[in-house]
Amino acid sequence: MCGIIGYVGEHQAVPVILDGLRRLEYRGYDSAGMAVMASDRIQILRAAGKLANLEELAFDQPLRGSVGVGHTRWATHGAPTEANAHPQVDASGHVAVVHNGILENYSQLRQEFRESGVALSSDTDTELIAQLLGRESGTLEERVLEVFPRLVGQFAVVAVTRDEPDTVVAFRQGPPLVVGLGDDENIVASDVVALLHRTKRVIYLENGDIAVVHRDSVRITDLNGQVDRMVETLDWDPGRMDKSGYRHYMLKEIHEQPDAIRNTVRAYLSSDRTTVNLDGLGFDPERLAEVKRVHLVACGTSWHACLVGKFLLEHLTALPTEVDYGSEYRYREPLVGEDVLVVGVTQSGETADTLAAMELAKEQGALLGTICNVRGSSSWRLAEVSMLTQAGPEIGVASTKAFTTQLVALMLLALALRRSRGLADDLDRELIHQLQRLPLAVEQALEGEEQIYDHATELLSEATDSLYLGRGCLYPIALEGALKLKEISYLHAEGYPAGEMKHGPIALLTDGFPVVAVAPATPTREKLIGNLMEVRARGATVIAVAEKHAQDVSQVADLILPIPEVHHLLQPIVAVVPLQLLAYRVAVELGLDVDQPRNLAKSVTVE
Ligand code: F6R
Repeated sequence: MCGIIGYVGEHQAVPVILDGLRRLEYRGYDSAGMAVMASDRIQILRAAGKLANLEELAFDQPLRGSVGVGHTRWATHGAPTEANAHPQVDASGHVAVVHNGILENYSQLRQEFRESGVALSSDTDTELIAQLLGRESGTLEERVLEVFPRLVGQFAVVAVTRDEPDTVVAFRQGPPLVVGLGDDENIVASDVVALLHRTKRVIYLENGDIAVVHRDSVRITDLNGQVDRMVETLDWDPGRMDKSGYRHYMLKEIHEQPDAIRNTVRAYLSSDRTTVNLDGLGFDPERLAEVKRVHLVACGTSWHACLVGKFLLEHLTALPTEVDYGSEYRYREPLVGEDVLVVGVTQSGETADTLAAMELAKEQGALLGTICNVRGSSSWRLAEVSMLTQAGPEIGVASTKAFTTQLVALMLLALALRRSRGLADDLDRELIHQLQRLPLAVEQALEGEEQIYDHATELLSEATDSLYLGRGCLYPIALEGALKLKEISYLHAEGYPAGEMKHGPIALLTDGFPVVAVAPATPTREKLIGNLMEVRARGATVIAVAEKHAQDVSQVADLILPIPEVHHLLQPIVAVVPLQLLAYRVAVELGLDVDQPRNLAKSVTVE
């Protein structure tokens, strides 16, 4: 949440900053701003609302200078107004900062400034950082060294001062910051997407790092002195970040799923493609053999992937598996120890709650793994064993290809654990074979008939509520389908285990109430059909995800969104696709901003 960028180089800063902010806008889009250094002052532009408003302002009031910072905001402290937009400046106008995170000692610092007679001009915690820096003396680096220990909470900050118009100083504790090393220029940003088209050489800052960035040098220190950080070369193709002719990133990313799945499967199969091979990940076989239980921790859509993961792990490895929200795990005193494999599942690798849960598990001695989509992200660096989903950059706020590749990764992990325990048999061969055919099945699932989708879209967009039902490993898909609809169409939808419906939600059903049933062939389909009979008996309309000619389903469904049949343990990966398409179509039908839904941000770096 919140995207920040800092630029020092040979070019004009404004186009670089605006371009970076455009690429970071998925992190927040309540307001935006930038500061550009002139020789004797800091020039600031800020605008409430989307980045387009700032762009307009920058067109009307051009700022010249080759050093600057920019910000796109997801509001925490203070409404999304111009006054609360970043950069925030200290009382004397000496220092400007952009910030991603939350200061937990906000009230105390505010009180302190009030008592000392400083008039604060915003409701933000960010202004307090600017005020603290402004109050110190010395170079910007020296000021940061003084102020850093006074900040409690999570913060990634990029600061400039009019006393050193050729310097940008960045520091972090929590939210990510990466420094891109360019040709006669250096850039700091929240995410590599903001700088990848300018350089592929990057340094990921660690917690506690302070980077002093000039046009021709980057020096990193912490509170104890200079530190060495590795320069990494990224292998991401900047072209993958365009919409490639699709109307929205979400639609593009839905259609990228066959490739994303293919790449993820291939990355973890042996060269003859007959066994799963996680050797390259650095699992210590002895440590792995000691594992008696698994905990999966995540948030949102990634949490839904974990629910499927529990099903897969317990079914295939007999390892008792618990699934937790990161935000719950960290405070519930979980029973975790050396015999527990804890896996943080996260697309971004930056979700604060998931990271905190992982940190707790690490402190308690668990074997810590992550399944994440961003090499070099915080979860990647925190975990002992990191498994990369090969989805490529996901820009649309609603997660799609990251989810299906997480499911693939969890299946591969389950198969690897099964093999390491000597349990592998014909089922493994069958699943590995089917995993390789999965991209084809997902392609077929993407080819639903226009007319059927139109009808389903109409049914959902005209209703204010809907119920999504599934059983077994498809119950999490019902949850995910409902979440997709909620987050981009703002229509209320509830995912429920179909067998539980009669214990409450059945009371919602009236004539024409839309019920979306996740109904591909699995061992519990018969039971689901029984539940759908109960739904039909109350006059509700059933939209089912199932094979096109499934006779038993067609008897209880008004509409079938077709998918091909695959092994029932892989069915969640295929069954979610029509639900992603349906949510997308409803949001488009309602004229909503699919890629940047209100109040949301892609990477939730605050608690
Ligand atoms: C929903 C969605 C979110 C994320 C959640 C966790 O479409 O994208 O629910 O799944 O914020 O994010 P990651 O996976 O980056 O940890």
